Amino acid sequence: MKKKFLGLAAAGAMLLTLAGCAGGGTSAGSSEGPKPADQLVVGFSQVGSESGWRTANTTDIQAAFKDAGIELKFSDAQQKQENQIKAIRSYIQQGVDVIAFSPVVETGWDAVLNEAKAANIPVVLTDRAVDSADDSLYESFLGSDFVEEGKKAGEWVLEEYKDSTEPVKIIQLEGTTGAAPAIDRAEGFADAIKGDDKFEVVASQTGDFTRAGGKQVTEALLKSNPDANLIYAHNDDMALGAIEAIEAAGLKPGVDIKIVSVDAVKDGMQALADGKINFIVECSPLLGKQLVDIVNQINEGETPEKRIITEETTFTKDQAAEALPTRQY
Ligand code: AHR
Repeated sequence: MKKKFLGLAAAGAMLLTLAGCAGGGTSAGSSEGPKPADQLVVGFSQVGSESGWRTANTTDIQAAFKDAGIELKFSDAQQKQENQIKAIRSYIQQGVDVIAFSPVVETGWDAVLNEAKAANIPVVLTDRAVDSADDSLYESFLGSDFVEEGKKAGEWVLEEYKDSTEPVKIIQLEGTTGAAPAIDRAEGFADAIKGDDKFEVVASQTGDFTRAGGKQVTEALLKSNPDANLIYAHNDDMALGAIEAIEAAGLKPGVDIKIVSVDAVKDGMQALADGKINFIVECSPLLGKQLVDIVNQINEGETPEKRIITEETTFTKDQAAEALPTRQY
């Protein structure tokens, strides 16, 4: 299906002109066929730089666009939805060819995405989903299955404690409130452990996906739950913060309090190999090449897959030690 750059060219150009913001250069639909790579412009709004995962994701996306010879306009929203909305509006005004973004939270996007649609600029979601009834507001969503990640973490917990007859008290370190990975990882985990009532999530609080947040929340929650057995962290950075808090409390992470987390970034993998984390579910930040492919497909007038799920695995201590020397991020 030839669309976006082609079919609605006139309408898109007109809308931008009417809005007084065509910018004169690269507005979507300004040509009658696929553009050469060096004339394509993509606007990307990143969540922030809250974690090692995020840094790796930014680096990978920037490198992939550089390799492809496609201009990437990049903005860092510093974990704030209002900054992402501003960035998207600015990309619309500049008339970029494609807008890509990783939504900091799931809800509240319909208005700005409708503006992009009215300007005939295709939008691609990377990493995180939006919660909208209208899936015509984006072309494709490329990223992990976060519910599945939470489920894998929960399944490891089931296996780890299968012979235990004692209650297992769990502290959950949640990601950013309202973010898809925080909502879905909690859901997948809860689903996995719900069949056995020896498992109890005794406390669950957000550490905002940051190391500092993970440390601070763990310090407080260990005081109110001194008999906790396990920490389920929605990402490695919060698990690494939790390790510091556990050690500061005179306990041994991975032994006195077990830890399961998500991401598998180098620092997390090192802690796993050192026995301070017990299990990690991988979440790959390497989305750059696939995002370039989607942009190229749109440019060619093709319809990209609506949902592209990233391939991921899990790591035990031995597997982490083996993977570390060649780990990219
Ligand atoms: O959306 C992916 C999550 O966001 C990663 O697990 C986390 O580290 C990041 O901040």
